[in-house]
Amino acid sequence: MDATSQRLLMCRPTYFAVDYAINPWMDPSAPVDAALAVRQWEQLRQTYLDLGHTVEEITPVPGLPDMVFAANGGTVIDGKAMAVQFRDPQRADEAPAFRAWFEAAGFEMYDPKHVNEGEGDVLLAGDHLLAGTGFRTAHASHAQLQEVFGYPVITMQLVDPRFYHLDTALTVLDERTVAYLPEAFSPGSQAVLRRLFPDAVHATMADAEVLGLNAVSDGRHVVLPAQATDLAGKLRDRGYETIGVDLSELRKAGGGPKCCTLRLRQGKASK
Ligand code: ARG
Repeated sequence: MDATSQRLLMCRPTYFAVDYAINPWMDPSAPVDAALAVRQWEQLRQTYLDLGHTVEEITPVPGLPDMVFAANGGTVIDGKAMAVQFRDPQRADEAPAFRAWFEAAGFEMYDPKHVNEGEGDVLLAGDHLLAGTGFRTAHASHAQLQEVFGYPVITMQLVDPRFYHLDTALTVLDERTVAYLPEAFSPGSQAVLRRLFPDAVHATMADAEVLGLNAVSDGRHVVLPAQATDLAGKLRDRGYETIGVDLSELRKAGGGPKCCTLRLRQGKASK
């Protein structure tokens, strides 16, 4: 399997905290080790560098504790960047910060007309855009995604509040294959996934409960939470190399490796 070198955007968790609860993972009364969160994030960043990826950083903004979850900052495909609109007011001010970064970096900008939480809910899988809805990203935004990017958009109905973003329930492994937790999807969406990806890896609830599906694949190496041992074994059986990382502190906000990572896709050649 060939690995693709990727251009990634990350945001250092300088102001990370769990001050509010907008998903079932977040408990503002539970302790968070902020210094450990930074060290774990640095480890993730180093993992990408060691794999030969390029990591760019957006400056964190005080008062935006969830800004570390850069996947929610936009959707970037073929040099086009669609900005985001968060469901929750606590994250609203992240949207213009990411938008300004994309604009300065020279991407062609598009603004969302509906709630759209970026790559948290929008994943390019081969020639399809898989778009989650049910908790965050509005179904109405899927039509706009199709219009902007020109990929067929497949709606994925999420049904379990713990797996509120598509990237907590499904990982794109390469152009042809995904891994996912079937129970996180409506029966119709499960049928669509079986049809599109007959060879998909099915994760267990135990894997999903450690955010194991919140993984980043370059087509050959899969960076995933170290605690997702069953999933890692299944991926190795398929020929992928797995790299476990511990993001225990960020998981207290409901995020894992993929949430911390936004893929910047320049164009077809560097897809
Ligand atoms: N606390 C954040 C929220 O609930 C976590 C976001 C995780 N990001 C992701 N791409 N799944 O919005």
